[in-house]
Amino acid sequence: MSTDRTGTILVTGAAGFIGSHTCVDLLSAGYRVVGVDNFLNSSPRVLERVRKVATGEFEFVRLDVRDRDALAEVFRRWPIDAVVHFAARKAVGESVEMPLEYYDANVNATLGLVGVMAEHDVRRLVFSSSCAIYGAVDRVPITEDTPARPTNPYSRTKWMCEQILADVCAQDQGWHITSLRYFNPIGAHPSGLLGEDPHGVPNNVMPFIAQVAVGRRDELAVFGDDYPTPDGTGVRDYIHVVDLAEGHRLALDHLGDQAGHRVINLGTGRGTSVLELLAAFSAACGRVLPHRVVPRRPGDVAALVADATLAREALGWTARSGVAQMCRDAWEFQRLNPAGYDDEKGV
Ligand code: NAD
Ligand code: WQD
Repeated sequence: MSTDRTGTILVTGAAGFIGSHTCVDLLSAGYRVVGVDNFLNSSPRVLERVRKVATGEFEFVRLDVRDRDALAEVFRRWPIDAVVHFAARKAVGESVEMPLEYYDANVNATLGLVGVMAEHDVRRLVFSSSCAIYGAVDRVPITEDTPARPTNPYSRTKWMCEQILADVCAQDQGWHITSLRYFNPIGAHPSGLLGEDPHGVPNNVMPFIAQVAVGRRDELAVFGDDYPTPDGTGVRDYIHVVDLAEGHRLALDHLGDQAGHRVINLGTGRGTSVLELLAAFSAACGRVLPHRVVPRRPGDVAALVADATLAREALGWTARSGVAQMCRDAWEFQRLNPAGYDDEKGV
């Protein structure tokens, strides 16, 4: 792929939270983007929003990434240079309830995609991995060489995919693959047009807080205040989704630096507790948001914070936004789209 950003990038899961922001970033940088999604966890309306926010050549095909014939047709139709693979199921609790669906949607889909890529002689891939693969760590910040200890089917799918990709690269030196292990993506596009709009009751803290702020939920249930952290609540490394999107573009730009599989954390290196996040969101929306402490959520760990050194050294990437900005942007999206993308009164 050329480094003047004139290539064609296939983005799977393009209508999703991180995928849509990454499409905007890639289009703005000059790439042509072909997005695919089956809208399992997203709305077709996202596509209009992407086209409003970014100019450039944005093509879209509705398909299931497990459908190899449909994927192959995309490779025949466009001169794909590289792939960013976001499409996956991502809810930890649900993965315990329906493990086979998770292995199919995450592992099988990745196997199929890599096979179709090889058939079309495309060997450049950026893969969505997760800090979830680290499990309960002994210390933070977490470097990439920390042993993986995935604790649930979701995080095992991500770990399995990483291992599959490493094996593929070991067998054929023509592959260039980067697995990005994201920490906790939050925030929204500053336009207020794109953001996080989970189906049903949010599993994650940020969309839950945003829905409390907009009046869709009464209060935040804080899962435990007896962790060994400064205020007793869980600490995470929240990263602005716009920064994360830029990290994908830089990972694409740097795929040619070395052959093989490499793994890079994308986080800020700064930890924020649940109560600190709630206070930052309260400041952003101008109202003290109610909360109630409830018992710990099973499977949660006290603190997960990235060591982001490798991303800086290998990609020249550093997160720009702090939690205050992430909350302001998330609030703007929620305020303008109180019921999410499918709200007729939306932007
Ligand atoms: P998301 O659910 O908003 O986006 C995923 C998109 O993939 C959705 O639009 C969904 O409809 C689509 N999709 C799912 N299965 C598909 C299939 N079989 N065929 C076609 N499309 C399909 O999630 P996100 O937060 O944008 O996450 C993107 C990726 O990043 C996922 O791989 C996720 O595991 C990973 N990740 C997310 C987080 C996070 O906290 N958001 C953290 C670490 C890693
Ligand atoms: C953050 C903090 C909770 C909800 C998840 C996935 C992980 C990765 C990132 C995909 C914790 C607390 C939460 C609530 C709360 N995703 N909390 N009340 O669990 O760090 O990571 O997203 O790869 O796989 O597990 O994120 O937002 O759910 O929780 O107090 O209603 O907020 O206990 O301390 P988590 P989260």
